[in-house]
Amino acid sequence: MYDVNEIRKDFPILSRDVNGKPLVYLDNGASAQKPQVVIDAVTTAYSHEYANVHRGLHYLSNLATDKYEGVRKIVQTFLNAKHEEEILFTSGGTEALNLVSYAWGVPNLEAGDEVILSVMEHHANIVPWHFLRERHGIVLKWVETDVNGDLDAQTVIDAIGPKTKVIAITHMSNVLGTVVDIKTISAAAREKGIITVVDGSQSSVHAPVDVQDLGCDFFAITGHKLYGPSGSGALYVRQERLTEMHPFIGGGDMIRDVSRDVITYNDAPHKFEAGTPAIVQTIGMGVALDYMMGLGMQNIADHERILRDYAQTKLSGLNWLNIQGNSASKGAIFSFTMDGAGHPHDISTVVDQKGIAVRAGHHCAQPLMQHLGVTATTRASFGLYNTTEEVDKLVDALELCHDLFA
Ligand code: ALA
Repeated sequence: MYDVNEIRKDFPILSRDVNGKPLVYLDNGASAQKPQVVIDAVTTAYSHEYANVHRGLHYLSNLATDKYEGVRKIVQTFLNAKHEEEILFTSGGTEALNLVSYAWGVPNLEAGDEVILSVMEHHANIVPWHFLRERHGIVLKWVETDVNGDLDAQTVIDAIGPKTKVIAITHMSNVLGTVVDIKTISAAAREKGIITVVDGSQSSVHAPVDVQDLGCDFFAITGHKLYGPSGSGALYVRQERLTEMHPFIGGGDMIRDVSRDVITYNDAPHKFEAGTPAIVQTIGMGVALDYMMGLGMQNIADHERILRDYAQTKLSGLNWLNIQGNSASKGAIFSFTMDGAGHPHDISTVVDQKGIAVRAGHHCAQPLMQHLGVTATTRASFGLYNTTEEVDKLVDALELCHDLFA
């Protein structure tokens, strides 16, 4: 039984007021709030269990190492990866996707090779590929969404040409909420020896993920959207890709031996994790993932589907609100503009006065904004603790906005 009112009590920030009103937090796409178990885990790690990892032979270092390394198993379970060493820790989704382009892309791609990107990508899954375009002559090939904001798997497959080497694609748009059929795309790509790089920064928050079932080569997640600390994240790398990757950042921990003339590298995953990592943040991420799995990823998905359907019905009743994207597959993320309102920032400022947090801007997805013909949108993005009453409060606040601006 998923009791959202009980679950809300796990998140201390949800009981605070903002601008004299109870907080309605609908900016989960940007970052999610933290349950007390995560806050406590971070406090405990710093108060009682802190030392550097992998280095010492003393009690605290071993304890911190066990806690930190234990998270790898948790992420493996969370993503249903086959092997523990397929999980690389990163500082978030952005570093994970940069790691793919530098560590796999640079040694394996050459001038003229194509990388297919969808127009829905977040900049984190665009800019690293632009670097390869600028520096190595890689060609970027774009696929578009349809009028509903859907991206048909066949559209992506049809874009594959003889020079295509990579398909870099989001699993769930951070702007439209559209979910992409990664399984079909990966299967077609695999047949042609093409690598699939999946940005799972949004999708992993909202529904169960099984990377073996998806069949992708890389899958990026970010801890701060998964109700964990910022500065944590992970990259799933299919085992056979690990041997094709060159280390990206050099330093301590990623080497076996260093001499004046020669270096030899540590084994994966440590080969790709130089320097002192985000120890406590990663421990916090592990607790957050355990918390989510404790609630049940399918239960979270079911709850958010109710929120999505309710919000879809309510928001589409506002005939002056232009909702971007209407995919049947979409998650509980709504981006919109309003007739009469000058800029989405105006809307977010007004609803903020009602204690409602939404995001306004281009959402780090400017090619999508160009595709949609807007410069910015307001976005309400829901999480596991949101309620239908909060949808009603959003609708009331938007009606107030419309009265003010129209
Ligand atoms: N990528 C985050 C968002 O979509 C920050 O808002």
